[in-house]
Amino acid sequence: MVGPHRDVTGERDTPVHTPEREAHRLDEADPGHRHLFHVPPADGGDHPESAYLAGNSLGLQPRATRDELLADLDAWARLGVEGHVEAARAWLPYHELLTAPAARLVGARPAETVVMNSLTVNLHLLMVSFYRPAGARTRIVIEDAAFPSDSYAVRSQARFHGLDPDETVVRLRPRDGEDALRTEDVTAYLAAEGDRVALVLLGGVNYLTGELLDIPAITAAGRAAGAVVGWDLAHAVGNVPLALHDWDVDFAAWCSYKYLNAGPGALAGVFVHERHLGDETVPRFEGWWSTAAATRFEMTPVSRPPATVEAWQISNPPIFAMGPVRTSLEVFDAVGMTALRARSQRLTGWLESLLDEVVVDRPLRVVTPRDPARRGCQLSVRIGHGSAAELTKRLRHEHGVIADAREPDVIRFAPVPLYSTYLDCWRAAAALAATVGQVNP
Ligand SMILES: Cc1ncc(COP(=O)(O)O)c(C=O)c1O
Repeated sequence: MVGPHRDVTGERDTPVHTPEREAHRLDEADPGHRHLFHVPPADGGDHPESAYLAGNSLGLQPRATRDELLADLDAWARLGVEGHVEAARAWLPYHELLTAPAARLVGARPAETVVMNSLTVNLHLLMVSFYRPAGARTRIVIEDAAFPSDSYAVRSQARFHGLDPDETVVRLRPRDGEDALRTEDVTAYLAAEGDRVALVLLGGVNYLTGELLDIPAITAAGRAAGAVVGWDLAHAVGNVPLALHDWDVDFAAWCSYKYLNAGPGALAGVFVHERHLGDETVPRFEGWWSTAAATRFEMTPVSRPPATVEAWQISNPPIFAMGPVRTSLEVFDAVGMTALRARSQRLTGWLESLLDEVVVDRPLRVVTPRDPARRGCQLSVRIGHGSAAELTKRLRHEHGVIADAREPDVIRFAPVPLYSTYLDCWRAAAALAATVGQVNP
């Protein structure tokens, strides 16, 4: 039977078979980089810090961010307008500081990557360029479980082109009785119906199930069918290794407030494959940041865009929002995605083994694929009854465990390899076991 029982050491009652001291042992052996982050204090339970497993929603604040941001503010105080060129990190070319590290993170060339705007704004700007319905080729393919704003975005794009969104947007569903999409079902759809598809726009890691799609295989199938293939990488960037250039992805966009820890509403990123760069047949919206930097102050009426993704920029960038992205990307450069992915798989595998003990006799089911290659760090649990929001409230206020609810019935736990610990995972499983009653105790 799984449930509260006395640890073999007799130290305390544990609601999962695996004792808490095993978590401490694993944390000593595999410590991560928690010291680089502010971890919110617990709002319940008997630990001083929260077990923060909501980095898939909002990442934690790097300790370096505040001083770096203050340095940018000080430059403004000291220099006023001259900061555009005289600040230690001059504002005119500030965005260039973010380009190379962002490109490394997504496996792109610097000319293919820019940090700007926010995610959905970027998706729209990219669809202006790459969703060009013509003749019978009008469809946009998304996942049925796409993040709702992606659904709103593509439906509004269809309307913008005078098309009926109900007919234009195709929502791919998992097979009956399954939770995640199968790559072969996506590629089979594209092989069968691809000549009617203008755009494939999928989430690299699904926000709800945590499934990592086979980005290269689906990209290849979409392109072979003559469609443009774009990716929403909100839940993939900083979570799983990416090679957008080599995978031949047409375009991608991501946010920086989840795994990139750049703060609420942080600036987002964009990738456009180099085969589209400098192509004057690709429509774009323009502003003064679309013209090449050297021409920006010529004050001429016609822009001269560079043959890089910077041509998609429109406005001059918000410098104080760029600093936190820069600071965050430095952490990824220092630690490296390969090491992070390895620790991520160890941590998530451990959380999975603990959840297995808990769900076995409770009305709970892990819906994330079990194959570590088909997921990032997030595990999603579907609850059989009750409200996911109520349950996460109890986890937080009774146990200091911060997870995230997606109504009506999914709770997401994301052990983030930069700062989450084995103890966080243990606390989450123990809190879930203590909060959700067994079916036949
Ligand atoms: C997968 C996905 N796409 C899009 C969005 C919306 O992003 P934004 O509001 O920053 O445009 C989110 C937000 O969490 C998301 O998870």
